[in-house]
Amino acid sequence: MAHEKFHYQSLDEVKAKAEELGLNLPFAKETGILKTPLTAGKVTFPNRLGIAPMEGADSLPDGSPSEYTYRRYIREAEGGSAVIWFEAISIVEEGRSSRTQLLLTRDTLESYKKLTAAVKEAGLKANGYAPYLIMQANHSGRYSNPDNKPAPMIAYRHPELEQYRAADDSCIVSDDYLKGLEEKFGEAARLAKEAGFDAVDIKSCHGYLLAELSSAYNRQGMYGGSYENRTRLLKNGIRAAKVYEDDHFMVTSRLGIYDGYAYPYGFGVSPDSGLTPDLTEPVRLVRELHEELGLSMIDLTMGNPYATTHVTRPYDMGKYQPDEHPFVGLDRMIQGIGTVKKAVPEMVIWASAPTYLRQYADLFTAGAVEQGLCDGMLFGRMAFADPDFANEIIRQGRIDPSRVCLTCGKCGDLIRAHKPTGCVIRDNATFMPFYKEFLEIKKTQPANFRG
Ligand SMILES: Cc1cc2nc3c(=O)[nH]c(=O)nc-3n(C[C@H](O)[C@H](O)[C@H](O)COP(=O)(O)O)c2cc1C
Repeated sequence: MAHEKFHYQSLDEVKAKAEELGLNLPFAKETGILKTPLTAGKVTFPNRLGIAPMEGADSLPDGSPSEYTYRRYIREAEGGSAVIWFEAISIVEEGRSSRTQLLLTRDTLESYKKLTAAVKEAGLKANGYAPYLIMQANHSGRYSNPDNKPAPMIAYRHPELEQYRAADDSCIVSDDYLKGLEEKFGEAARLAKEAGFDAVDIKSCHGYLLAELSSAYNRQGMYGGSYENRTRLLKNGIRAAKVYEDDHFMVTSRLGIYDGYAYPYGFGVSPDSGLTPDLTEPVRLVRELHEELGLSMIDLTMGNPYATTHVTRPYDMGKYQPDEHPFVGLDRMIQGIGTVKKAVPEMVIWASAPTYLRQYADLFTAGAVEQGLCDGMLFGRMAFADPDFANEIIRQGRIDPSRVCLTCGKCGDLIRAHKPTGCVIRDNATFMPFYKEFLEIKKTQPANFRG
């Protein structure tokens, strides 16, 4: 299918296109439902709007936050979202995605205490409430790049992904290493709590280590093969983290329910489903996370942003042109999340990836909540473009169309170049200089920016 960029002048035009494509995108008439409180466990959020984790590649060399990290999160806190789901923060040096990825250890702890205090204070001052801050605890696995040189640590060999990033058998992590990580996720929870975060996310999405294990059908040993083995590290990491839970501090997870690869190279598919999601295992996992492990809230997402980017974040401009309309990606995501929500209604579920819809992302989110497909929405690229989107929805009923994200992909370019990341279009004075540096690097090292 020829790629058609977003050109819709009204919601009716958006709806007409979705209908032409045979899709079922939810749209509400107004956004009032997004202002209603949401309770998960013993925590009540003042609204249903959150900020998705967005790596900013702007840490200091030791992994502590820089002035750019402060700037991003303070602006986001002032913007009125109930939840800020912080970006991927590495829990071990070897699992860092770059030399500029945040790293929380005992050595950097003090710097995080200052950051969370400043972010909460900014929210409180601007809106009368502090956002609920979630630390995303991650091991980059296949995408480990601690010294800005690929050093993949993989669950299993994946021929398609290895076209983008070379790996060999020596990169396969041992069961002993994985066993050791279980406790490290517990330690990450402890540090997150000490650092002033309100929750820790044991991250299992987007092709990183835990997510890759969920599709390690052909791996031998304790962490591969059966469903029980493939979910062992996630569940044991959560168990180790739960030791630190209390009435306010929560353990949660951002879970990938579909990767965009057929069996045996992706989660959320079965031997016969081809590329069509089969959510039997994700539904089982979410049910067990609630009933057996006692999680009250999770976020769901899809895809691998390095390889199946269009599945994670439908776009107009990116590394490649997918052969599906971006609305197909939106539909796959929200209906997939809705399938899980309907199967496990007791779990509070945040959905992902509304940004492609620009100024209609608010009505889409309200429609998804009204239809029971999710309880709230995390906004990703939109928050870079317009960190005030939540207050616009809450106070004026709608997002300001002049500030929306255009899905141009430049924030993705910045992060791939390990440059401080933000919106080059709407936050031009701060990020255009870094974008120009990226263009220069691309000229001299084109191979690093292919695919
Ligand atoms: C520059 C950039 C950085 C991202 N970093 C993270 C991250 O650290 N952790 C994560 O779970 N997702 C990350 N994502 C994915 C977003 O959280 C989100 O799922 C995706 O952008 C789709 O949401 P949107 O359509 O609202 O942008 C990132 C996306 C972008 C563009």
